[in-house]
Amino acid sequence: MTNKILLVGGGGREDAVARKIVESGSILYSALKNENPSIMKLSREHLICDELDYRRIAGFAAEKGIDLAFIGPDPVLETPLVDILDSKGIRVASPSRDAARIETSKAYMRRIVAEHRIDGNIFSELFHKQDEVEKFLSTEKREFAIKPVGLTGGKGVKVMGEHLKNRAEAMAYAAEVLSRDGQVLLEERIKGEEFSLQVFTDGKSILPAPLAQDYKRAYENDLGPNTGGMGSITDSDGLLPFISRSTYEKALNSIKQTVSAMASENTPFRGIMYGQFMDTENGPKIIEINARFADPESLNILSLFRGNFTDVLFSIADGSLKTGADFMKKATTLKYLVPVGYGTMSKPGTLRIDGNFETDHLKLYYAAVSGTMTEVRMSGSRALALVGIADTIPDASDIVENSLKYIRGDYSIRHDIGTPAMIRKKMERFKKA
Ligand code: AMP
Ligand code: GLY
Repeated sequence: MTNKILLVGGGGREDAVARKIVESGSILYSALKNENPSIMKLSREHLICDELDYRRIAGFAAEKGIDLAFIGPDPVLETPLVDILDSKGIRVASPSRDAARIETSKAYMRRIVAEHRIDGNIFSELFHKQDEVEKFLSTEKREFAIKPVGLTGGKGVKVMGEHLKNRAEAMAYAAEVLSRDGQVLLEERIKGEEFSLQVFTDGKSILPAPLAQDYKRAYENDLGPNTGGMGSITDSDGLLPFISRSTYEKALNSIKQTVSAMASENTPFRGIMYGQFMDTENGPKIIEINARFADPESLNILSLFRGNFTDVLFSIADGSLKTGADFMKKATTLKYLVPVGYGTMSKPGTLRIDGNFETDHLKLYYAAVSGTMTEVRMSGSRALALVGIADTIPDASDIVENSLKYIRGDYSIRHDIGTPAMIRKKMERFKKA
């Protein structure tokens, strides 16, 4: 009998997941807030709903006889949805609410990493009182990243020396977070190249995906406000031109240690674990550990994924993951088309797409849009993702650039992602280090 898979979420990441589910021969059901034309086209049935409405989604899953569910967005992992599906006997390839705390609570993450002596930890301290945080900041010489403990959609972290010009601004921001949330996390500021490592895990075994780098800043040359991510790259050898194999091995080891630590505390993690690391002078350090696929980086790696994706999801849910599936040995460059003003004040318009121009070397994913396959209305967020697949990152970037002629309308894009100039600049820094 053909499996029925429920996918929650309606962004670019979920479009990439939806395609893999359908390619695997399974029947797709989806629950999403926007009328994403690609996901809707791939689905046998869809439910347009508030993605946080866990009762409605769990009811939909039961009514449709879903065999397995997969959750895309992090805020959904903070609801009881996964636990309810579990209790109804529906398999889930995403973490329980408790296990998702590795992402939804940065305080929990830092506790696990510190108590289990996981490699790549950095100094951090949680504050509940304003006078204590002020005293700490006024006596400390180091710089810090100031973070809300919970989810912020990638926009709540401010770093001294980057977003915060001086100690007074740092104190003011810490006070703002503290008065809103009752707590604020300070982490030592570290410097280096950032990279993302996504792995599939059933709580014991791990299947790692190629490393990726995400470009969070809104404007070219890594300027401007942080966004959800404007684009991302992966390389043909599964590393990045400026990240060594030994750095990769250390980061993978940190993820393995985290998976074991969570199992040893009876909070086994199943699903996708996505570590955000910074490659510092003292080796790779953990910036964040997330409980889901990265967006945009999952679109790179899913475009390379070979094998039966649904089988992997079942093996995650059943605790029988084997390191069988693999990834094409190609490079990818992804660039998101976003509304003009994205990152500050989006002015969403309409984009027109000339027919189906996808090839084996070029994928077009639909993100936070509604409409048809040939005309989409943008929301305030990312609209369309183009992924080029080639032997090198710059060639993959050229494939994306050459396909922009098929899309008309007003949008912003970071043309610099994956270009030879960008890679050269990063290589120079890497060689100096
Ligand atoms: P996050 O939302 O935790 O991923 O943080 C957003 C961005 O802030 C990261 O991608 C980093 O560029 C930066 N950041 C976070 N934590 C630190 C840190 N401890 N030191 C330096 N930069 C950081
Ligand atoms: N790549 C950023 C995120 O998914 O959180």
